[in-house]
Amino acid sequence: MALILGIESSCDETAAAVIDTDRRILSHKLAGQEAAHRPYGGVVPEIAARAHVEALEPLVAAALDEAGVTLDEIDAIAATAGPGLIGGVMVGLVTAKALALAADKPLIAVNHLEGHALSPRLADAKLQFPYLLLLVSGGHCQLLFVEGVGRYRRLATTIDDAAGEAYDKTAKLLGLGFPGGPAVEKAALEGDPKAVKLPRPLVGTPEPHFSFAGLKSAVLRARDAGIHRTEDIAASFQQAVVDCLIDRTRRAIGNAPGATALVVAGGVAANKTVRAALETLADENALPFFAPPLWLCTDNAAMIGWAGAERFLEGHSDPLDFAARPRWPLDPNAEKARGAGVKA
Ligand SMILES: Nc1ncnc2c1ncn2[C@@H]1O[C@H](COP(=O)(O)OP(=O)(O)OP(=O)(O)O)[C@@H](O)[C@H]1O
Ligand SMILES: [Mg+2]
Repeated sequence: MALILGIESSCDETAAAVIDTDRRILSHKLAGQEAAHRPYGGVVPEIAARAHVEALEPLVAAALDEAGVTLDEIDAIAATAGPGLIGGVMVGLVTAKALALAADKPLIAVNHLEGHALSPRLADAKLQFPYLLLLVSGGHCQLLFVEGVGRYRRLATTIDDAAGEAYDKTAKLLGLGFPGGPAVEKAALEGDPKAVKLPRPLVGTPEPHFSFAGLKSAVLRARDAGIHRTEDIAASFQQAVVDCLIDRTRRAIGNAPGATALVVAGGVAANKTVRAALETLADENALPFFAPPLWLCTDNAAMIGWAGAERFLEGHSDPLDFAARPRWPLDPNAEKARGAGVKA
């Protein structure tokens, strides 16, 4: 059994956690920055980086303290090294390097997306490779065939916005506030998902990918029509997103023979309507369904520690000159999807 210190700082959450290779989460500390970014309706990279600098050191100390361990007792230090906002990533990675150097511990440079991708295995030991993963977050919307640690085959990606990004932009358009995903989900509870006719981009097409930009524009038109309740637009938007996710995932199941489970991870996986629809799809296809607990879906350091743990168990560590990577695809061999602004 080994103890791992995990550090996350790739977007607007600063987090530190101590976990062990037996899946115990000994501590988890998180400092959100919502208040700092709220006036701008989105994450401001420079503000985020400065906030990480202020928050990280005391968070690491608090995480070690709560776990009841010293840095000397930690076996490896795992930090997000990308992809993400480069300023924030550098704050976390440099801190991890300094700790690793000072305490003479191995450094593990974690791909943030691998943190999301493996988080369901931290939550549940029953989940084995290979599995079909829907990774739906603020910056990504992908279907991946997960063969093992570091072995990902991308089956689909978004050709424009990520699903979480669509939620955030819709929240902004509807004046529901920031962060957008939970706000839209809450408003949708009071609305009729059939009230507003909205498009389902790429649904039913032979290409495997996602698209959400047209849906966002349709939300804007529905709002400007001035005849719909905000709650009805939110519910109809959410239903359209769910329909897109389900259609694309159903298609991917047919192209992922050998997958032992359907798995969802990333911030949008915290959405109860999304989870329920995916669970039904898994049932229809006789696949077990795995989704991490809600707090493990959005950015956190336990999943980074766990991705580090999986790599540590395979004997992996990284050099102290490992450079932060603002872009870092899980499947470097994936073909580019059509369209500009391709998200890796
Ligand atoms: N309950 C919810 N319903 C829908 N979306 C949600 C919910 N909770 C969070 N989200 C969305 O999840 C996203 C945040 O997820 P996450 O923290 O994984 O993304 P990120 O780290 O910014 O992006 P990435 O992981 O791709 O780099 C935001 O877009 C947010 O709106
Ligand atoms: Mg994330």
